[in-house]
Amino acid sequence: MSTYSVIKGTHKLTRGLCVFITRSFSSMSNRRPKVYVTRRVPPDGLEILRPHCEITQWDSEKPVPRAELIRQIAGKDALFCLLTDKIDGEVLNAAGPQLKCIGTMSVGYDHIDMTECRERNIPVGFTPDVLTNATAELTVGLLLATSRRLIEASQSVREGGWGTWDPCWMLGHGLDGSTVGVVGLGRIGMAVARRLAPFGVKRFLYSGHSPKNEANEIGAEFVDFDDLLSNSDFVLGCCALTKENQGLFDKDAFSKMKSNAIFVNTSRGGLVNQTDLYQALVNHQIAAAGLDVTSPEPLPTDSPLLTLKNCVILPHIGSATEMARGAMSALTGRNILSFLRGEEMPCRIK
Ligand code: DGY
Repeated sequence: MSTYSVIKGTHKLTRGLCVFITRSFSSMSNRRPKVYVTRRVPPDGLEILRPHCEITQWDSEKPVPRAELIRQIAGKDALFCLLTDKIDGEVLNAAGPQLKCIGTMSVGYDHIDMTECRERNIPVGFTPDVLTNATAELTVGLLLATSRRLIEASQSVREGGWGTWDPCWMLGHGLDGSTVGVVGLGRIGMAVARRLAPFGVKRFLYSGHSPKNEANEIGAEFVDFDDLLSNSDFVLGCCALTKENQGLFDKDAFSKMKSNAIFVNTSRGGLVNQTDLYQALVNHQIAAAGLDVTSPEPLPTDSPLLTLKNCVILPHIGSATEMARGAMSALTGRNILSFLRGEEMPCRIK
């Protein structure tokens, strides 16, 4: 006998009868492992876990309050979390020593204190690859919306600003013949570059820890960060956020960019010093910025960035396709279930 619980606020629904206990769970003395799920998620992952685990879920479109997370994680064997949940020593202590693994439904894991996890020998699964195409597609869309001023142009039609066809109105910057600089040519950076190549990009530059073999496919040149900034017409933030690159795009970085540069960030808001970005945009030090990620998220509606026509801001929707989010949920479920069964996680953070 086991339970499937959905908790929303004070409401608790308990249902279910399932006696399926695999031999591989024998290390848990024949009881179904308990998994805490921190949000309403696409069902794919829950369907993988439900036949084998006792699930407790914060069934809401809003993040679980921290106090509730700390209360609910106590005694659980696994945690299914999102990038909006800060998983640190306090949460891991609250969980207790039986916590065996964590699966985050994201490719980024800057919200998880990996040192604390390693110290406790808790493996963390994540969801690379399955969101690469969706995120790359959105990055291209955001780049074009920003460089060709799509939001501003559409808004001006609504506001009666479309006088007549004007040879000097709403001019933007095209990709044809341009130099694109990708900061972090990983899975997503590479997928973005592949999609941009057919637009007639003349040169691809990239920076990061080391040269990559895949770069040859698009003839991308490995350069240092400063060279990338000063030579690129488009600068794309595609690297994972770490302690070292927090605020990487700051006053100094913007001052090195070309005045026609379009800056696009679909990675993490923490890469950018937003005060410095605002100044660079107001002073036309760079032409425009497209952001799918900000710090904090959501971006407060009184953020000065929202007053700028040359700044396009989206609400972190890079991976927001039905297919990608379903696959992210499923992979998180598989990561957790595999580990609980004593198998390798399909995608474990090294
Ligand atoms: C991730 O998975 O880290 C992405 O930011 C979600 O879109």
